[in-house]
Amino acid sequence: MKDQLLNIKKALLAELEANENNEAFDIAALEALKVKYLGKKGELTAILRSMGKLSPEERPIIGQLANEVRSEIEAAIEEKKTVLGSKEKERKLKAEHLDITAPATVPSFGGRHPISIVREQMENIFLGMGFDIAEGPEIEREYYNFTALNTPDDHPARDPQDTFYITPDILLRTQTSPVQIRSMTGKEPPIRIISPGRVYRCDEVDATHSPMFHQLEGLVVDKGITMGDLKGTLDLFAKTMFGEKTETRFRPHHFPFTEPSAEVDVSCFVCGGKGCRLCKGEGWIEILGAGMVHPNVLRNCGIDPEVYSGFAFGMGIERIVMTKFAISDLRLLYENDLRFLSQFN
Ligand code: DAH
Repeated sequence: MKDQLLNIKKALLAELEANENNEAFDIAALEALKVKYLGKKGELTAILRSMGKLSPEERPIIGQLANEVRSEIEAAIEEKKTVLGSKEKERKLKAEHLDITAPATVPSFGGRHPISIVREQMENIFLGMGFDIAEGPEIEREYYNFTALNTPDDHPARDPQDTFYITPDILLRTQTSPVQIRSMTGKEPPIRIISPGRVYRCDEVDATHSPMFHQLEGLVVDKGITMGDLKGTLDLFAKTMFGEKTETRFRPHHFPFTEPSAEVDVSCFVCGGKGCRLCKGEGWIEILGAGMVHPNVLRNCGIDPEVYSGFAFGMGIERIVMTKFAISDLRLLYENDLRFLSQFN
């Protein structure tokens, strides 16, 4: 039995040695070897089971030897395991080779869209003057978009060729001006709001037209509001938006909801008024429509025009974006081309 025990140890050591340079002999193979020698059905266990047949004098001697053999086998396997472990680590390190000199992949960050950039600038200018931001629906009642704004029944803007109607009574708003009506109806002046948002018109897409674009509306109603307040407000806006030297010019115009009405130009901030490519030689760039709120509009909202007066203005945000950044084609703003958009980050 003593020889049997010693042979088991020898056999294990021989097996380990035989696999010394065997690349395929891994930790799993080592585990299998451990089971073979020390497991429940292993050779050592079989010998220990038969120890009952030994004489009482032999039993402790063989028992001690068996324990020694077991711990020697365990130690040999442990030692091999350490070797295999570091070999495996080395192999992994080689396989997962990391080139720390390779250029890093920089995550790409999104940025503000130029329309959002300019809209926020405009909002901040007017917020600084004490305006609040008002919102209105893009799907609007015909009444708010046209009728309450004093627009005659035969006005060309009402034509289904120009306006997207959903029903005869419901349409996609063609301007942000209906927010004026929503802000005045049932409210007591003073009222001082701006309203930025999307508007829709039946236009073919080209370099200066899009069926969807953005406007920013402004409205002030109070006692004693004059055209002077309108001019002062827009002049300050223009100077903050385009530069301190910017001048404004009011030209007579017609809008159904204001009287008198004006179109407002700013002096070209590139050439200072001499005439250049941006202002097409004019020296002036048209940026908005404005005027004193028509008494009929005030009346439609339940405000007495004998007590209150007001001014209003509306401007296209795209127009300002294109002017400010010298963008020649409106379509660039909607194509989501990162080569274009990333220039504004
Ligand atoms: N709603 C007009 C348009 O879309 C712009 C406008 C002009 C708005 C004069 C106003 C205004 O509030 O007073 O062309």
